[in-house]
Amino acid sequence: MTKELTGKIAFVTGSGRGLGRAMAERLAELGADVAIHDISWTAPAKFGEAPDLGAVAKAIARHGGKTAAVIGNIGDKAAVARMKEEIEAKLGRVDILVNCAGGDIGASGGKPQPNDALGIPLEDIRALTENNLYGTILVCQAFVPSMVKAGSGSVINIGSAAAQFGVTNGVIYAALKAAVIHYTRCLAADVRREGVRVNAVSPGATKTARFEATRVVDPEKMDSSIKSLIRYGEPEEMADAVAFLAGPRSKYISGQVLRVDGGETLFPG
Ligand SMILES: NC(=O)c1ccc[n+]([C@@H]2O[C@H](COP(=O)([O-])OP(=O)(O)OC[C@H]3O[C@@H](n4cnc5c(N)ncnc54)[C@H](O)[C@@H]3O)[C@@H](O)[C@H]2O)c1
Repeated sequence: MTKELTGKIAFVTGSGRGLGRAMAERLAELGADVAIHDISWTAPAKFGEAPDLGAVAKAIARHGGKTAAVIGNIGDKAAVARMKEEIEAKLGRVDILVNCAGGDIGASGGKPQPNDALGIPLEDIRALTENNLYGTILVCQAFVPSMVKAGSGSVINIGSAAAQFGVTNGVIYAALKAAVIHYTRCLAADVRREGVRVNAVSPGATKTARFEATRVVDPEKMDSSIKSLIRYGEPEEMADAVAFLAGPRSKYISGQVLRVDGGETLFPG
């Protein structure tokens, strides 16, 4: 694998586990120094992926680059400012920002009940908005100005296939991911003359530990050797898309949404 990101510094939010971790691993493999992040030190243990964030940072450091581990709520402006200071002190200015933290997480930490358009409680709407939309915006507001000043940078926001069509379960999550995608386009327009590219990756249903632990999975879709593309995605497939958008091979691409969903949203949206 060419080390095309050597000399670059990446920050991947929500990289203590799941897709974020796979993305952080791939950027490190490509030569970047990577700041790992989660909401708490032990969040990586929630679905058994690692004992804590320190263990994740150590595992990612085996690719040869430097790592730093930071914790904080992305929906809290002061916490984001503190994390930026910590990352800059440990690694330097961030060149690649991946906003992966988020999910269909309500106020009590699980999925909202009910999770539909008319019944979802207000406190869950607030929690989802903080975890998905405010968080992404606040992290961009903190990190993109330094990229603009430097005249270079790549931001990748993580959307969802659920943002592309009407759903009856996870409605506010889907609506917020649609907002993340449109914020991506607007931010790309804002910084288009500044050397900073902003894109989104919209994953389809992907086999992370959380995904498998929080639903009944269809065994027919578990086998990645099925060639039909009607299967669950692998975290590494999302990481490949992020790596492409982070690096030089996508240098003329900005404001786009790469749907990595096996063709699930081929027609709508
Ligand atoms: N796995 C899928 O099928 C799938 C599909 C489409 C989109 N996504 C999106 O991909 C991203 C990663 O999902 P995953 O499946 O790896 O889930 P995950 O729960 O394993 O990872 C999400 C991470 O974000 C962190 N996080 C959430 N809210 C946060 C906050 N307010 N502040 C700081 N950290 C916070 C969590 O602690 C966790 O580490 C999410 O944005 C999710 O919506 C996932």
